Amino acid sequence: MERVLKTLTYSLGKDLDVSRLGYGAMRLTGEGVWGKHVGLSEVSIADITRAEKILPIVSVQNMYNLGERKWDEVVDYTAKRNIAFIPWYPLASDPGQLSGKLEIVAARHKATPAQIALAWLLHRSPNIIVIPGTTSINHLLENIASARINLSGRDFQELG
Ligand SMILES: NC(=O)c1ccc[n+]([C@@H]2O[C@H](COP(=O)([O-])OP(=O)(O)OC[C@H]3O[C@@H](n4cnc5c(N)ncnc54)[C@H](OP(=O)(O)O)[C@@H]3O)[C@@H](O)[C@H]2O)c1
Repeated sequence: MERVLKTLTYSLGKDLDVSRLGYGAMRLTGEGVWGKHVGLSEVSIADITRAEKILPIVSVQNMYNLGERKWDEVVDYTAKRNIAFIPWYPLASDPGQLSGKLEIVAARHKATPAQIALAWLLHRSPNIIVIPGTTSINHLLENIASARINLSGRDFQELG
């Protein structure tokens, strides 16, 4: 965890790609000028592959949650490469898309929908590290407790 938190994270916007923004910074890291570990944010498999030609990548931080699965392939790719996947907005989920299924699974586990959203991420892949943001001690305790929720195959199937 400490290693991941110290990671440099580069955000790549629409008009910037890893070759323009990240490569120079990664070279500085490789030469010991900056940090020790390199993380990337909002990147595709192609971006990661290109970056890995310069330095090992330790983490990828892309938007991913129960309702937003567009980076599914990146989750699987990073798992195979032993790269941490940090989903940002881990608690966001589109209620329309899940149409009440989250609440049904939550009731089954006597948990809150937010806890199920986090438990789903933790069960989705072993390389996922969740960093939910909160200003509430109660939410913090609930979020920590979500690590102990064991989702069944049926829960997983229902959540899609
Ligand atoms: N790489 C990137 O481009 C990028 C972009 C955005 C965010 N991030 C990172 O992703 C992390 C998470 O982002 P985030 O905090 O914006 O989104 P988030 O963790 O998905 O959601 C935070 C929101 O959820 C609420 N919440 C937290 N725990 C809850 C619970 N148990 N039940 C109900 N509501 C709960 C919080 O309200 P309360 O305060 O009331 O609990 C807050 O409004 C942060 O570390 C952020 O830096 C990265």
